[in-house]
Amino acid sequence: MSGNQRTYRSAHWFGKRDKDGFIHRSWVGRGMPEGIFDGRPVIGICNTWSELAPCNGHFRELAERVKRGVWESGGVPLEFPVMSLGETSLRPTAMLFRNLVSMEVEESIRANPIDGVVLLCGCDKTTPALIMGAASCDIPALVVSGGPMLNGKFQGRDIGSGTDVWRFNEDVKAGKMSERDFMQAESCMSRSTGTCNVMGTASTMAVMADALGLGLPHNAEIPAVDSRRFALAHVAGRRIVKMVEEDTRLSRILTRAAFENAIRLNGAVGGSTNAVIHLLAIAGRIGVPLTLQDWDDLGRDVPTLVDLMPSGRFLMEDFYYAGGLPAVMRSLVEHGLLNGHAMTVNGLTISENCREAPTWNTDVIRPFDRPLVASGGIAVLRGNLAPCGAVIKPSAASPQLMQHRGRAVVFENIEDYKARIVDPDLDVDERSVLVLKHCGPKGYPGMAEVGNMGLPPKLLRAGVTDMVRISDARMSGTAYGTAVLHVSPEAAMGGALALVEDGDLIELDVPARQLQLLVCDEELARRREAWRPPAAVVPRSGYASLYIEHVSQAHQGADLDFLVGCRGHSVPRESH
Ligand code: FES
Repeated sequence: MSGNQRTYRSAHWFGKRDKDGFIHRSWVGRGMPEGIFDGRPVIGICNTWSELAPCNGHFRELAERVKRGVWESGGVPLEFPVMSLGETSLRPTAMLFRNLVSMEVEESIRANPIDGVVLLCGCDKTTPALIMGAASCDIPALVVSGGPMLNGKFQGRDIGSGTDVWRFNEDVKAGKMSERDFMQAESCMSRSTGTCNVMGTASTMAVMADALGLGLPHNAEIPAVDSRRFALAHVAGRRIVKMVEEDTRLSRILTRAAFENAIRLNGAVGGSTNAVIHLLAIAGRIGVPLTLQDWDDLGRDVPTLVDLMPSGRFLMEDFYYAGGLPAVMRSLVEHGLLNGHAMTVNGLTISENCREAPTWNTDVIRPFDRPLVASGGIAVLRGNLAPCGAVIKPSAASPQLMQHRGRAVVFENIEDYKARIVDPDLDVDERSVLVLKHCGPKGYPGMAEVGNMGLPPKLLRAGVTDMVRISDARMSGTAYGTAVLHVSPEAAMGGALALVEDGDLIELDVPARQLQLLVCDEELARRREAWRPPAAVVPRSGYASLYIEHVSQAHQGADLDFLVGCRGHSVPRESH
């Protein structure tokens, strides 16, 4: 039993010497020694293991390692499953279910006799979903990420998850790669369990968790199959018990300073645009004021130091061996770009954790004065085409397209795009701007990762490698290209995106943060008058219906309106 005399939350279940206490102890304590629930901390291990989410395929073993640490520190571990989200398989898109999982996590924590929780996070949406759910309860919580898979190996070189799929796909369409090689690359890309090995959304969100102070040092980057990943899980088990004893709740970690750090670190690692939406949603749950504009204001002058795909050359395994996130944190702290006093789950500040962090390979983690990209943050665009904002990731875009004016080639939805992009008679050239509608939170529904829509094959064959693309969709963190994303309000809400027609001139000016539809106000008013909402693409019942009715726009985090906020962990009523 812990020497601490505090009465923990779980004692309201297990500490009673009456009929209710009998019921709680007798059923849950099966197979455990009598008296095990003697007031010591009870630790939930929230597990997103699933064979349908193979990036999290090693989580049963990870959970066992967490349990070792919990027992060792005098706690009682109780593992529980929640829905897992396999990014590559879920239809219509995993993002549709992020909020559903967050709700399941929140209610699982609150309804059960849990004093603290270890969140086993991996594949893209599992990380924000679990943090959002725990934040709405505000109990001590610690993130253990699954870690990235090993480097892909193909024909003598390293290949990156997702990033090289997009590249190979364009190469096949351009006639530069055979279909046989394309099929062979498939098994060479995913060589172990773990998350995508580029700085895609999963790695970005693992970095975000550590940047927010929720992970132990190196949590984000130790490869999934590295023995040190399991040692980290063991230490996490030890630490969460202490966090309960200290009452280190999420609200003590998830401060405004923590979110500012996360935004800056996203720029430094060349992180995914998806982090914008997820951090806005997490901030909304814990009650920290954070806006889309903060991303530009705070991230604008942050150099990208990490040379990882999709912005650069290397992979997550290389990042760990080069020194990992603590080395990047140290560089930013030393240049005044991080709030070094922000607290983390191991009881030390960001500064204390990274003060002596070494960099072993300056090709992978560049010196501050020799960055990969001078201004690596995510740019927030505004204008009459995106009154509430849109985002672009300059480090993954083409410098020559950062200021561009071109004629719109409009696709009304993803089916329209797929049907016509291959048409050799499509009226498009390399200066055109591809516009995709009805892929936003309500329109898809779930805001699919289709914003990096592939280029017309006839232009690929002519050697075109990038074009300006604009949509209300998201983009996979593994993807690249001059893609303007998250246009808000979305087309399905009658946003200006819905009014764009073939041939309209569009002006993109990233340095000025402008996105303008060059059509006069009178004409736009006429089109708005004639606009009608699109027909429903999913049944008006079930979860999707609830989602469409309540989801907020991208610039607000795309959370469900009734889930925003922290509802605490108190449940006064007994169950019997
Ligand atoms: Fe699971 Fe990329 S598909 S992390």
